[in-house]
Parts: sequence; structure tokens; C-alpha cells
Amino acid sequence: MKPKAYVTRILPDKAWEMIEKFCEAEVWEGELPPPREVLFEKVTEIGGLLCLLTDEIDAPLMDAAPELKVISNCAVGYDNIDVKAATERGIIVGNTPGVLTETTADLAFALLMATARRIPEATRFVQAGKWKTWELTVLLGQDIHGATLGIVGMGRIGSAVAKRASGFGMKIFYHDVLRREEFEEELGVVFTDLERLLRESDFVTLHVSLAKETHHLIGRKELEIMKPTAILINTSRGPIVDQEALYDALKSGQITAAGLDVTDPEPISPDDPLLSLDNCVVLPHIGSASIATRTKMATMAAENLIAGLKGEMPPNPVNPEVLSSRVG
Ligand code: GLV
Repeated sequence: MKPKAYVTRILPDKAWEMIEKFCEAEVWEGELPPPREVLFEKVTEIGGLLCLLTDEIDAPLMDAAPELKVISNCAVGYDNIDVKAATERGIIVGNTPGVLTETTADLAFALLMATARRIPEATRFVQAGKWKTWELTVLLGQDIHGATLGIVGMGRIGSAVAKRASGFGMKIFYHDVLRREEFEEELGVVFTDLERLLRESDFVTLHVSLAKETHHLIGRKELEIMKPTAILINTSRGPIVDQEALYDALKSGQITAAGLDVTDPEPISPDDPLLSLDNCVVLPHIGSASIATRTKMATMAAENLIAGLKGEMPPNPVNPEVLSSRVG
């Protein structure tokens, strides 16, 4: 008998075919994530769950799934999953690192450029028929070349952003819990504490994962330290930034602009005051959204799911100790 799996959203064909070949799989076909009560009903007999970052997978849900062996998240971030609870229950968790690094770094840089050069605002200007002549003092933005970039979180995506920034002749600071000397040599980036990074950077870009320690890492105090000409870019997770404090900082001119691919909550309400600001560019969490990358992510998530169902170590485990301790 094939093992049972539940998939919480329609996947690219290739990934779905891999899963169907190996499992008796059911998919939630809704446009929005499956409601919690549906998840509770569907997990009762499954061995594998393939989910997205919009699905909260917590201890009560795991307790409703006595057969569950593997949770495969189709994302690199896994703050939507209680990994500790999964480990305690012997459930292996997989994610999709690496394949989305360059695509997400592209988007972070696109957001930086769009915000610095006020591209969405300029587009609205043209659409509104306000372009009457070439003007010397209208829609002036910030230079990117030669500016100082502060990268908070020098992991895979942070370092990929640094590569792009060095091509633009930017001076680069980084802050991380770990010093990354290999990048210091390769990219000429300078390690610094968060305070100096915030005080001296023209652009600050966030690439840390969401955890208790990084929740509201950028709050009122941090925004106050930043230059009045500074621009904040967030492509990591919304709750890393205190959004109310950010609104006040943008409204009062304490910083110049922000570019956000992630918000808190997601989706952001259409009535959120941040959306009324011309100096805030908000995208709907599309960091990894290229056709090629999303296909690779889904394939990787399918591979993690299938390996977990076989009782094997998935290619990208988040809590490998679950299986290594069984073997040892
Ligand atoms: C997207 O945000 C991801 O974590 O893959």
C-alpha cells in the first residue's frame, strides 16, 4: 500500500507527479491556505505533509496526526513549524535552502533600486498624467553606486546580496551572530556591530531568519539610529521589523524610505497606513517567485517528503537528529 500524504496547495506538475508516483496523495486546491479545521481533519491518517509557509504546523496539529513521519515545507524559512515539537515527536522536517538564494537576492536588490530611485512612484506619476516636461528637481532619489550598504544576516542570501552590491561599487558592512571571514576576503565586506551598521549605512537590508531573538530586531530605537537619508529593505520575515515604529519613522522623515517584500501580518491589510505612504514600496512576498526557482523548490520539497516517508534522511533536513539518533 502506498503511504498517504497531504499537500496544502497545488504544486508545479513535475513535483506533483513525483509525489503521486510514490504516495496516495491528496491536495488542497483552494486559492487560500486550507482552514485549520481542514488540516486537522486531513492529517489524521497521513504519513507525510507538504506545506507552505502560510500553514501553521504546531504541536496540537501534530498530535492529531499519529502516523506523521515527515513535514516538508516548500520554503527555506520554517518559522511556521514548531520544529521542537516535531523533533520531540520523532517527525523529520525538511525545507528548501539554496535553490532560492540568487532569486531572492535579485529581488532584494530590485527592491533596493526601486525604492532608492522611486520607481513605483515615478510609474504612478506617468500614469496620472503628471509628466509635463523634463524637470530638474522632480522625483529625485538616492544614488546606489558608491553608497554604504549594511547587511544584517550574512548567510546564503545576505552574501548573495553582497555580491550584487560589490558590482555596484558599494561599501558593505555586515552584522551577524557569526563572523564570516571568508566573505570579508572574497567580497571586501566589513564586520561591525548592529549599532554602527545602522548609524553609517545608506541602505540596510535584512536577511536573518525569524526567531525569538530577531523579533522586532528593527524597532523604534534602531530606526532612530539610522540616517535620515537611509532606506530599509526587508525580504526576510515581516515581524523582524516593528511595523508601527517603521510607519512613524517613514511618516516623520526619520528615515527616507522602506522596501518590504514581507509584512506583519501577511497579507497586509489594504487599509494599513503603510500603504498610504509614497516612500514605502510593499510587495506580496515574491522573493523566490521566478518560474525556475519555484519549480526547483517544489521538486526539492517533494524529494524531502518522499525520503521522509521512506524513513530515510531527506536531502534537506531541518532536524536531522530525529533520524540520526534512530540510526545511532
Ligand atoms: C520564503 O520566504 C521562504 O522562506 O522560502
